Order: sequence, then C-alpha cells, then structure tokens
Amino acid sequence: MKNIIVANWKMNQDFATISSWINDFFYKICDDKNFPEIAICPPYLYLDMLSKVINKNNKNSLISLGSQDISFSQSGAYTGDISAKMLKDFSCKYAIIGHSERRQFHCETNDILEKKLKMTIAEDIVPIFCIGESLKDRQEKTYVDFLKSQIKSVIPKDIYLESLVLAYEPIWSIGTDTTPKISAIKEVADLVCSELLNYKNIKNFKIIYGGSVKSSNSKEILSIKNINGLLVGSASLNYKEFFKIIS
Ligand code: 13P
Repeated sequence: MKNIIVANWKMNQDFATISSWINDFFYKICDDKNFPEIAICPPYLYLDMLSKVINKNNKNSLISLGSQDISFSQSGAYTGDISAKMLKDFSCKYAIIGHSERRQFHCETNDILEKKLKMTIAEDIVPIFCIGESLKDRQEKTYVDFLKSQIKSVIPKDIYLESLVLAYEPIWSIGTDTTPKISAIKEVADLVCSELLNYKNIKNFKIIYGGSVKSSNSKEILSIKNINGLLVGSASLNYKEFFKIIS
C-alpha cells in the first residue's frame, strides 16, 4: 500500500509564499513513482491556483489536492461554507473532516461530522477523518474509549466508503513539538485498524499520524505497522522540510 503524506496548511500562506513554494517544490519533485502520494490542503482561496499547477505538472498523479473542511449541506443558505460539488470543481480528491481545530473553534459535533462524511461520498471525495484525544484523556487513561467513540459516533456501521483516510492526531501533540512515544502511536494505530476492520463496507482505508511531524521523526513514525502516512501541519509550510519528509 502506498503511503500518503498530507500537507495541511491551515490558515497560513498567501499568494506570494504559495507561488514560491510551488516553484521550488515542483522544481525539486519529478514524477518519481517511488515517492509516496502527496496531498496538499491549502486554504480554500488557493485551491484554484494549486489545481492549475497540479494539473499541469502531475503526470503520474502523484500529487492531489484536498480541502481543510467541507459543508454538511449540498447547497443553500450557509454563508461561508463550501460544498462538496464546489470542491470537485477544483479537482479536490480529499477533504479533511473533524480536525480538532474545527471541533474546537467551530463547535463541530460528531453529528455534524457524520453529515460531512456523507457529503464526501456524494461527490466521490475521500474523507481524511481526524480523531485525537486531549492531554486529560491521555493522562486519565480514558483515551481508548474516547477514540473508539469518536469513530463510532461519526462513521455509521452501514456506510459504504470506497476509501477512507483516518488521521490520528492527539490534540496535545499538535503544534507543540511533542510527539507520543512510538509504542503509543502503534497502540492507537492497532486499535483503529481493528475498529475499522469491523466496517465491512469500507473498502480501503489508510491510517495516518499527525501532530508535530518533522523530517527528524517522520521516518520512524512511518515505520510503524498500520501507519500508512502522515498529516503534516507547520512543517509542510517550508517546502525544503516537506520535501525531506516525503523523501
Ligand atoms: P503540526 O504538524 O503543526 O503539529 O499540526 C498538525 C496538524 O494539526 C495537521 O493537521
């Protein structure tokens, strides 16, 4: 199974910095089949810019585009939202759903996330569904139940999904330069894997890790059994650092 490395730029970058990132990155990357799959999730406004560059430079479909969110509705009076169909217009293959920053700052509940997940299916977008426990859950050792409930509350048992990317992002690791021990990531990867194997209608899934990923720790994390990729935040803003991670 090919690994996937996802760049989540969050609310960072602007026209000038993206232009130079693209120039430098695409100059360095050739369509080498040995690279993992790469998905770039820029702020919505830059999807158009990136989709044009990717369509032009991406002979082997190594690089895809993703969004950082998706509306739970098809269309209508939802000021500020972007629908699955709109994302498809810009060749988005992936959509991040349930990032802890969306849950925290936009009050996204598991109910809303379930609707968002269903929206991805309508337009054949692959969901990158994020789960992750707080430091309190980790310290009080309630994280296993918490993570299982995040999965069960959002993914209905009877859902049909051609592909799913499940991102394990412990909240306490995001932007903190602290990563869990390798054994702790492995424990969750194994847990998630056995949970997802209960879903007979999910045809393919990948489990990826996110939270303070850098070139200095990416290789070790990728060596964990059942980890099939990375979700990279701040380290993806620097093309050199991101290139080291994908290499
Ligand atoms: P950092 O890599 O900056 O810790 O962010 C992780 C993340 O939230 C990616 O979605």
